[in-house]
Order: sequence, then C-alpha cells, then structure tokens
Amino acid sequence: MCGIIGYVGSQEALPVVIGGLQRLEYRGYDSAGVAIINRANQIQTRRSVGKLSNLTEALAKENGTGPHGTLGMGHTRWATHGKPTEPNAHPHRGPQDLVVVVHNGIIENYIQLKKDLVAQGYDYPYNSETDTEVLAHLIEKFIARDGLSLEQAMLRTLEVIKGTAAIVALSVNDPDKIVAARLSNAGGVVIGYGPTGSGENYVASDIPAILPHTRQVSFLDSGDVASISREGVIFYNQQGETITKEIVTINTDAITAAKGGYKHFMQKEIYDQPQALTDTIRGRVNLETATVSLEDMRFSAEELAAIEKVTIVACGTSWHAGLVAKFIIEELARLPVEVDYGSEFRYRDPILTPNHLLVAITQSGETVDTLAAIEEARVKGAKIASIVNVVGSQAARISDGVVYMQAGPEIGVASTKAFTSSLADLLMLGIYLAQARGALSKERAAKLLQALIEIPKHVADLLADDKLYQTMARAKAHSQDFLYLGRGINYPVALEGALKLKELSYIHAEGYPAGEMKHGPIALIDEGLPVVVIATQDKVYTKVVSAIEQVKARDGWVLAIATEGDTELASKADEVIYLPPTDPLLTPILAAIPMQLLSYHIATRRGCDVDQPRNLAKSVTVE
Ligand code: G6P
Repeated sequence: MCGIIGYVGSQEALPVVIGGLQRLEYRGYDSAGVAIINRANQIQTRRSVGKLSNLTEALAKENGTGPHGTLGMGHTRWATHGKPTEPNAHPHRGPQDLVVVVHNGIIENYIQLKKDLVAQGYDYPYNSETDTEVLAHLIEKFIARDGLSLEQAMLRTLEVIKGTAAIVALSVNDPDKIVAARLSNAGGVVIGYGPTGSGENYVASDIPAILPHTRQVSFLDSGDVASISREGVIFYNQQGETITKEIVTINTDAITAAKGGYKHFMQKEIYDQPQALTDTIRGRVNLETATVSLEDMRFSAEELAAIEKVTIVACGTSWHAGLVAKFIIEELARLPVEVDYGSEFRYRDPILTPNHLLVAITQSGETVDTLAAIEEARVKGAKIASIVNVVGSQAARISDGVVYMQAGPEIGVASTKAFTSSLADLLMLGIYLAQARGALSKERAAKLLQALIEIPKHVADLLADDKLYQTMARAKAHSQDFLYLGRGINYPVALEGALKLKELSYIHAEGYPAGEMKHGPIALIDEGLPVVVIATQDKVYTKVVSAIEQVKARDGWVLAIATEGDTELASKADEVIYLPPTDPLLTPILAAIPMQLLSYHIATRRGCDVDQPRNLAKSVTVE
C-alpha cells in the first residue's frame, strides 16, 4: 500500500520527489523517506516517522545543505512488517552502502531469504524489522559478490523472492540509473517519460505522483524490470531479454488518477475488496494443516485455554463486524461472546477478569470510545486483542495481541473494505481460538479455510454486476425510508446495510432482525417502503421467507439477497440478487457487497458527497 516515486533528469530531484510523495500520501502515512545520488556519487537518505510533513520540516531545517542531486527516489509507507519507526522507514540500505531500495508489497519468504544469505556466507546485520531490507542485501550481494549490473541484480532478485513487490533501487555502481521491478499483479509500477530531449524520466507506484510532469507512461507487468536513465528507458522481461512497451497517454486529472479511474474513493475502495481480502488472508491460512497463523497474537497456549468469555467492543461499522463475530466465535470456539459499543462499555462498570478476552475492532485504531474500552479492560486485568487496519495505531500499541486487516488506506468516510477485511480476520480469530481450545475438528476447519480463500473471487464476481444496482438506484433513490431485514448472522449485515444507506444518502433506514419485524416495523409497510431482506440458504431461511411473505402481503417492495440456485424467491420478491454459495459463517462478507453498491448508487444519484458525508468523520477522536 506504500507510495513510490523516482526521478532522473537535470533538475534538483528532491522537490520532484517530495511533490510526488505529497500526491501519494493517501497510500500510507506512517513514515516517509528519500534517497538522492549526489555529484560525488554518494547516496544520501533522509527518513522521518509520521506524516510527510515531518520529513519536509526536517529537510527545511537543513537550509539547503541536505541532499542535492538530479537522480532520486522517495517512499511513503503503510506499515505491514515492523512498526512505523525510523529504522523501518524506507529507503533501506545494503550493508556495504552500495544500494538503496524502496518497496511496496510483501516479501513472503524474507525470513528464508535471510537464512539463505547467511548460509552463503553473506552474513550482515539488519537495521529494521521489515521484509524489505533483505532486498537491499540481496541486490547488493549480486552486485558486490557476483559483479552484476543493477538491472541484472534486480532480475536475479525477482527469481528468488516470493510475494508481491514493486521495487525501486539505486546503486552507487550505476549512479545514472534507477532500476524498477514488479512482481505479481498487485502493486503497480508506472514509468513516465519527460518531454522529448529533456533527459527526464520518472517511475512511480501510481500515476498521480508523476502527472504534473508527464502524461506519457508505460506500465510494468509482473516479472518486468525497467532501467530508467537520462537517455531513456530500457525494459526487460523475466528472462532478461529486452522488450518494448506500449506508451499510453493519460487523459485524466490527478485526483481522478488517485482514485484509480473511479469517481470516488468509496467506489474505489468497494472495488479494492478482492485485493484487500486476499492481502488479509495471505500467509495466514495453511490448508494442509487446516490452521491459521496470526503472527501478532502474542498469547501463550495456557492463556488461550484459560479464556472463559470474550467481550467485543467497537463503534459504527466495526461494531456490526463485532455482532457477526459473536456468531463465529460462539459457534466455533464455544465461548460466550458479548458485544458492546465502545461508548457504552466503560460507563456501566463492566465485569471483566484476567480470564476474559477483550476484542477491540477498529479500522483506524484511534476511535476514542474504543480506546477507552481497551483501557477499562486493561485496568481490570483482561487480555486484549485488537482487529486493526492502521499499523502502529494507538489500539495496536496498547493491545496484547493484534490481527491486522491489510485493507490498505481507507479514505472514504463510510467504511467498506475495512468491514469485509475485519470479517475475514474475525473468522481466522474464531478458528484460532477454537483450535487453541480444542473445540474445532480438523475437517470443519479445513472446509472453512477453503471457503475463506475462495471469498475474494466471489466478491470480484459480485462486483462485476454494477448495472443492476444503478437500475435499482434509479427506481428507489426518491424513497423516504428503507427497511433492512436479516436473521442470525445476517442480522448485523442488515444493520450495516441500513447504516451505509443513511450515512451516504441521508435517507432514513432501519435495520431489524427479520423475526422481530412483526413486533413493530410491520406497521410501516406500504407500497412506498423498500425492504431489503437477506435470505440466504441457512438454518433460518424458511423463517426469513415468511417475513418476505408478510411484507408482500402488505404491498411492500422487496429486494431479496439470496443464494445462487434458489428457485423460490424469484416469484416472491420484486428483485433478487444472488450470492455465490459459501459457508454460512462467511455469508456476511458477500452480503455486504450489494449493500455497499446499492447505497453508493442511491447516494450519488441524490447528489450526495459519498466520500465525505455531512457531519461524519473518518476517525472519531472525541467522546
Ligand atoms: C466513524 C466512521 C465509521 C467507522 C467508525 C468506527 O464513525 O465514520 O465508518 O465505522 O468511526 O471507526 P473505527 O476506525 O474504530 O473502525
């Protein structure tokens, strides 16, 4: 999720690099760094923790005595491995100071690579906890020991690394070049061409970084390497053969490009979900052993076995994820689970003991009510785990264990990809707790994990059908009220559907348990009230179908969210959206997608600001 920019030309590189980083800061903002090659062919680096402004302020204090040169690169970090500290900030240097590297992605086999380097006698200490630093060691070894050029060293590096990577490297041995590479389809690399004869060329993780300078670009595919110099750009494929690349002209403005071609950040984030889910699951699921590994859950087997009760605290959309988790953890781990709003929890003197596990769910890790609940639990001696998206945030720092979401920066105020990513985390947490307590058979765990790894593909399939929601939004955008119904594990999804609609479109919407409709909301039903009902195949299906009958008998309009293969609902509901079959514990991830798309399209038809709805904030840091 990190941002990268590189420049070679005749201007001072630093302002170009900083300008690019400013346009990329939405990708990550826990630390930033630059590397510039000066006239004496030395690599000068500067790094700062926190927002980019910390780095620019530090550079300003140098009063022009800082890095100077016409070739350089920069990086803004969204931490995945290692806390947001200066040693973990990019660029990372090779041990002999010949190479610097910036990277976006995850090097899955970095521990093995470190061991291999030691076994080869290339045994140098590391300065960071990152997966990236090993790249600097590897590239440097290929240059210093094997006499390779920077391009060849990069190609050799691609042969041995596993995972996802956009890598940019500089070397004092090749001081007139920037070498970039891409591995896997995640983490793009774009090359920008300066005006003909200018001798200027660029590389970046995203188009907005370089748009003020050029609209002529080429894209790297997985396995490609680019050597960027004042003379031009040479491309290599994985076999090291030179290849030509199409030059594409970008006709868009910077902000549109930041949104990756989407109209709004929220729309982009909805469409990010297959990748966010893949990243969240990646490296944690072992299908052979039917186990999960949650690397930052620092509890002993004895501590896990002693847990008697789980209390989940959260706010907003994260609270809805908590309600889903109650079904997951109770069913799998057979532990009683209580779910509370952060804002309610501490004011009623909650009962907590050292054998309680408090699970805080918070995308930002900074919501003050959730933090206060964590603090309350700490005072009472409970164990604390948090499900967090922002690495190094307050919630992550004050918890005993963390499960990160890996959803990347979520900019739209209404949460989308963090919701579904947290649900994936919570399923893995449920399995983890269940296995620690011996409550889950290997067969059931294996089936669940298989279903989990299929989820990103199912989400991608659901997202392909956007037209349907546009049509529905056209028909229903003028409604005054909406009712959302669900039962069992899908009841929280009904709440989330109603929340998404009201916060984005300002239409009054209520989420209700389908079985409770007859105790009140049924009085609202007439031909003007759209009712969205989640009626997937599970043990309460027939009961939910009865609720649909009751709505139809009173002339309500029903959109049913059903499971593919359902033959009953087409004749009962006005519209049906079909979800791919999955384990019922995973249905909420899929059912969330129609909720998001419907709300998004209704809100945009009503002319609402979907990225920054009125009165709301992304991170609520006041009580
Ligand atoms: C705000 C946001 C919501 C979010 C809630 C909790 O209300 O607008 O989208 O769900 O805070 O945020 P957290 O970062 O703790 O998950």
